[in-house]
Amino acid sequence: MISKMSCALGRVAPLLARALHSGSRTSSTAASRQAQRTLTPEEVYAREDKYGAHNYHPLPVALERGEGLYVWDVEGNRYYDFLSAYSAVNQGHCHPKIIAALNAQASRLTLTSRAFYNDVLGSYEEYITKLFGYHKVLPMNTGVEGGETACKLARKWAYTVKGVPKNQAKIIFAEGNFWGRTMAAISSSTDPSSYEGFGPFMPGFELVPYNDIPSLEKALQDPNVAAFMVEPIQGEAGVVVPDQGYLTKVRELCTQNNVLWIADEVQTGLARTGRRLAVDHEGVRPDIVILGKALSGGVYPISAVLCDDEVMLTIKPGEHGSTYGGNPLACQVAMAALEVMEEERLAENAEWMGRILRSELRKLPSEVVTCVRGKGLLNAIVIKETKDYDAWQVCLRLRDNGLLAKPTHGDIIRLAPPLIIKEHEVLECVEIIRKTIMSF
Ligand SMILES: Cc1ncc(COP(=O)(O)O)c(C=O)c1O
Repeated sequence: MISKMSCALGRVAPLLARALHSGSRTSSTAASRQAQRTLTPEEVYAREDKYGAHNYHPLPVALERGEGLYVWDVEGNRYYDFLSAYSAVNQGHCHPKIIAALNAQASRLTLTSRAFYNDVLGSYEEYITKLFGYHKVLPMNTGVEGGETACKLARKWAYTVKGVPKNQAKIIFAEGNFWGRTMAAISSSTDPSSYEGFGPFMPGFELVPYNDIPSLEKALQDPNVAAFMVEPIQGEAGVVVPDQGYLTKVRELCTQNNVLWIADEVQTGLARTGRRLAVDHEGVRPDIVILGKALSGGVYPISAVLCDDEVMLTIKPGEHGSTYGGNPLACQVAMAALEVMEEERLAENAEWMGRILRSELRKLPSEVVTCVRGKGLLNAIVIKETKDYDAWQVCLRLRDNGLLAKPTHGDIIRLAPPLIIKEHEVLECVEIIRKTIMSF
C-alpha cells in the first residue's frame, strides 16, 4: 500500500498557518462544522503546529483509526504499525476485549479518588500481584510516575529499614537510561536533549555505565545507596541488549550490598521481549518492578509498582498517591489487558516472531543495515548514514511503502509491532523493509 502523501510539512505549513489564522475569526458553529469534515494530512499537521507545543517531531502521517496491527490515515491509507506507541499497544490497536471492559465500566463508575474504597481496585490488586508474584501493588498512571514512585519507595526504605542517615540516600542509574520527562527522570538522564536547559537537578542520583558489572560493584559499596534502577533492555537508547548474565549479576550484587534492585519494565515488560517480564529471560526477581504502557493495551494511562511488604509498607497513608491512580475504569482496563496477554500467549508469540524477524532482517545488505539487534519483538536496525540518506529518510520511505517506524538517536530504527503479529505478516513486513532499503 503506497501512501498518497508526499508533501513535506515545511512547504505547506506557512500556507495552512495563514488559512488557520483566518479560521480563528469564524463563528463557533462554523468552527464545529469545519471540525466535522475530514481534514487533509497537511491540515492536520498545520493545526497541531499552530496550536500545540513543539515538543515532538512527528513523522508526517495523520492517523485516524487503528485495529490490531494496522492504523489508517485520514486519506484511508493503511499501515503496519511498527512502533506500537512505544510498546503500549502490545495487544494490538483497539483490542475488542479491552475496549469492552472500558465501555462496560465507563457507564458504571469511573473515578472515586482514593478518598473512598471502590469495588474494582481490590480485585485488580489481587490479580496483578498474584500474576507477578509480589505482595503488593501501588497503582499510578504514567510510566514516569511509576519510576517516581519506585524512587520514593527506595528512599523511604533506605531511611526506615536500611538505616541510611536522613537525606543521604543515593539511587544509582545506568548511563543511557530513559524513564520519562519529570524533573527526577531528567536528573538521572545522560541525554542532553532530555536535561539541557532544565536544571537545577535532583540530588542523590548517580550513574554507572550500562552493562558494566565492575562499575556497579564499586558504586554499590557506598553504604548510603538505596537502589539501583535499570531497564533490562534499554529501549529509548536504541534497544541496547546487555550481555547474557548481566541481570543475574545485578541481582547478586544488590543482595550482597543490601541495595534494592528496581527493574524499569515499562517498555520491556508485558510480553514485549518474549517473556512476561524481560527479567524472566534470566529467571531473576527484582525487588521493585515498574510497569506501564501495555498495562492498558494503549487505551488509557496506567502504571503500577510491584514490591513486597518490607518495601511497600514503608509508605504510610497520606505520603504518596494520585487522584486517578487505581480508579475503577483503569483497573478494569488493566485486568483485561493482562488477561489478553495471558490468553493470547503474547510472550510466546513475541519470542517466535522476533526470531523470524531478526533472522530475515539479517539478510538485508550490510552496506545499509549495519546491525540488527533485539529480543522478542523489541528490535532495532542501525542504518549506515551517508550524505544521500539517513534513518529519518528511511522511515519516510517505509511510510510510503505502508509501514510506520520511527528513528531513535539518529541512525537507529526501532521495529516493535504489536505482539499479535503472525508469521506471514512478519514476512510481508520484512519484504516492505527490504524493498525500502534496496531503493536506497
Ligand atoms: C523504560 C521506560 N520507562 C519509563 C517511561 C516513561 O513512561 P511514560 O511516557 O508513560 O511516562 C518510558 C517511556 O518511553 C520508558 O521507555
